[in-house]
Amino acid sequence: MFKYKKVAENLEPYKIPSTTNYKYKMDMGEWSLPIHTSVTDELKNFNSLYRYGVLDDGFNNLINLIKKYNGLTNKNETVLLTNGSDNALRLILELFATEESKILIPVPSYVHFECMLDTFKVKEVKKPYMNYNLSNEELNDFLLYELSGEYDLCYLVNPSMPVGHILTIENLKHMLSSYTNTLFVVDEAYIEFTKNTTCASLTEEFNNLIVVRTFSKFFSLASLRLGYLMTNPHLIKLLKPYYNYKDITKIAVNCATQSLLHIDFYDKNRETYFELKNYVIDNLEQIIKVNDKITDYIMKDGMYFTIICKDPVDLKKHFDSYSIAVRNKDSDIKGAVRLTINEKEVMEKVFETLKKY
Ligand SMILES: Cc1ncc(COP(=O)(O)O)c(C=O)c1O
Repeated sequence: MFKYKKVAENLEPYKIPSTTNYKYKMDMGEWSLPIHTSVTDELKNFNSLYRYGVLDDGFNNLINLIKKYNGLTNKNETVLLTNGSDNALRLILELFATEESKILIPVPSYVHFECMLDTFKVKEVKKPYMNYNLSNEELNDFLLYELSGEYDLCYLVNPSMPVGHILTIENLKHMLSSYTNTLFVVDEAYIEFTKNTTCASLTEEFNNLIVVRTFSKFFSLASLRLGYLMTNPHLIKLLKPYYNYKDITKIAVNCATQSLLHIDFYDKNRETYFELKNYVIDNLEQIIKVNDKITDYIMKDGMYFTIICKDPVDLKKHFDSYSIAVRNKDSDIKGAVRLTINEKEVMEKVFETLKKY
């Protein structure tokens, strides 16, 4: 019998949400606000489908735009484009998930990362539970305490998902300088949905940090599969043997470039998001006052909000009956039902439906 990794026999594959036939898909992980016309023009005019991506001026120009967007000043190689940020995370695991590694993942976290890690044989994985009621400062203290267990790698989603706790750059700086033997992987998939900025510049100050970002969420380019990681040139050199330039398509590079060239347009989307967030909070506040079945809600930072209710299966059924797909997150947080923020008309529909519950 040929040999294979026996661990695969007992692993559950990551399931992407695949609800169909719903009118409103509030269970999805994508952001649906408008994209700039220059991006759609790139798609319409693209005529090199037969080609792999190439390391041409367009590719290098995008790297420079990314550096500018993230406030990076080091002229050396500090950015790797990846096929979605998922593949940045996988790349990191390929190099750093060794049989001797002790890994810390505060949960709830990004489940797909946990699934990817499950395929590697490591010494220890610790998953301390982050209570959603903790303030950001309390969470920071909790993490500092957990980190004293001396881990080789710590994966932090910032803002966390689905809860939306956020660590400040000062918080992260303190962690990086206190635990210099721990490699911190900070996943900023949702950082634009906060008032904070990226911690990428810390990669120029500390050698134990990799920051991962994506064009899938805020820039609404999930279909094109483009993400990136930022770190110091030494770690880039070590990651390179595991890296595949062919994962990066020319069309993704072109569209991402246009997105970053029109950042003012996306900043308006960001303003719309903050308005929507206030609208969501106002409505949830009203609902918990009058509905006994809904006990609490979570709307911190990020693209999601969570309803805490007595019976998440029943609440999901209620939404189902109005063709609104939501995610039961009871396994992460007791009584939780998670929804993605969507445009105003859709949010109105959600709250109309919730008021009938
Ligand atoms: C926290 C987090 N990181 C990374 C990803 C992966 O995004 P992508 O591979 O599309 O860049 C997701 C997608 O849902 C996510 O929620």
